[in-house]
Amino acid sequence: MSSGHPRTSKNLLSFIADRFPVDKLNFHHMVEEKRVPIHRMSWGYYTGGLTALFFLIQVVTGLFLLFYYQPTVSDANISVEFISHHVAGGALIRNMHAWSSSCMIFSAIVHLLTAFAMKAFDKPREITWISGVLLLLITFAFGFTGYLLPWNQIAVNATKVGLQSVEDLSQCLPPFLAGLPRVLRETFQGEASIGQSTLGRFYAMHIVLLPLAIASLLGLHLLCVQLHGMSKGVDKETDKSERFFPFFIFKDLFIWAIVFLGLFTVSICVPFDSFLPYPLLAPYDPLAATPPGIKPEWYFYFVYYPLEMLPFPVIVALSNILMAVLFLTPWIFKGTSRRTLQTLALSATAYLIVMTLFGEQIVHFVKP
Ligand code: HEM
Repeated sequence: MSSGHPRTSKNLLSFIADRFPVDKLNFHHMVEEKRVPIHRMSWGYYTGGLTALFFLIQVVTGLFLLFYYQPTVSDANISVEFISHHVAGGALIRNMHAWSSSCMIFSAIVHLLTAFAMKAFDKPREITWISGVLLLLITFAFGFTGYLLPWNQIAVNATKVGLQSVEDLSQCLPPFLAGLPRVLRETFQGEASIGQSTLGRFYAMHIVLLPLAIASLLGLHLLCVQLHGMSKGVDKETDKSERFFPFFIFKDLFIWAIVFLGLFTVSICVPFDSFLPYPLLAPYDPLAATPPGIKPEWYFYFVYYPLEMLPFPVIVALSNILMAVLFLTPWIFKGTSRRTLQTLALSATAYLIVMTLFGEQIVHFVKP
């Protein structure tokens, strides 16, 4: 046997031991001793907690929705209508679930960008970062699968487009892999065209598979955060810091209370679907023509509008590069200064804002 093997496994073991310092797995280190640095980027430390708040709201409101929701093509839409108009507090719970889903995606993206700008992915936090990237992908998957459940025109037609894009991936693969996207699409879709099996599978993913995946990953993510404490966040280390317990956690909870109140008020006053024209919210009719205005949720615009303008393989290649960069961030940006990271994070933010708010106008301008 070559001497390479023992060295590789020794390196792997010491990598794991450094990322999971079990001697720090105690109340004293994780709560009593924990301190949070104070500097101009300190607000970034609240973004993960906010994402966790929205996740908790999703769990609680989702459980209430389960009492009445029926996952069948004949009853899904009616049951959702019933929740909105005939169940006491039903409209509020449904609005909270929908508004909070958007908030969760928004705050997870802000959390990723701040963690990036603060170089919080740096050694020994690689696993915190990678589990974070997976959490974000799962959060998007929650959005995609949840969108179909009300079984209305926009939901079913937008999901069809999404599933078609999965199959279109075969154009970008070498011949021996070209059949894979179709298998993937069939696995999600469950039958020849979108129908009961699709709804059943999306429902299973939305209420069982994805929650199991997110709960375990979130456990890993938070364990890593507690074991390593907060990262320093800025290049010039400050000696100012505050105790996590009780000071930081108190502010955290205060922000949670304000945000919860805001969400509650918005959910009482503004139905989340009031921005969509009625025909898109009518029950799905397989025989009717596809109504105009079918679009995914706003958080997919950053990839949806470029898809309208650029060839599909270009978008696939760019998305793959983005994924690879996100997963390898701790190694790619190891030696990069926080100043450069902040500039990159700000450029990404500018792109996301412009594409989300003005993507439609840009498409009209480029392709009149
Ligand atoms: C469901 C989504 C997520 C939840 C609920 C969540 C939750 C949290 C919480 C509560 C913290 C500690 C407080 C803080 O630093 O903000 C944290 C830290 C962290 N998160 Fe997340 N997170 C999520 C997604 C992500 C994503 C998408 C990334 C980036 C890829 C990420 C990367 C990190 C990193 C690197 C830290 C350590 C920060 C530090 O030490 O300064 N997380 N997360």
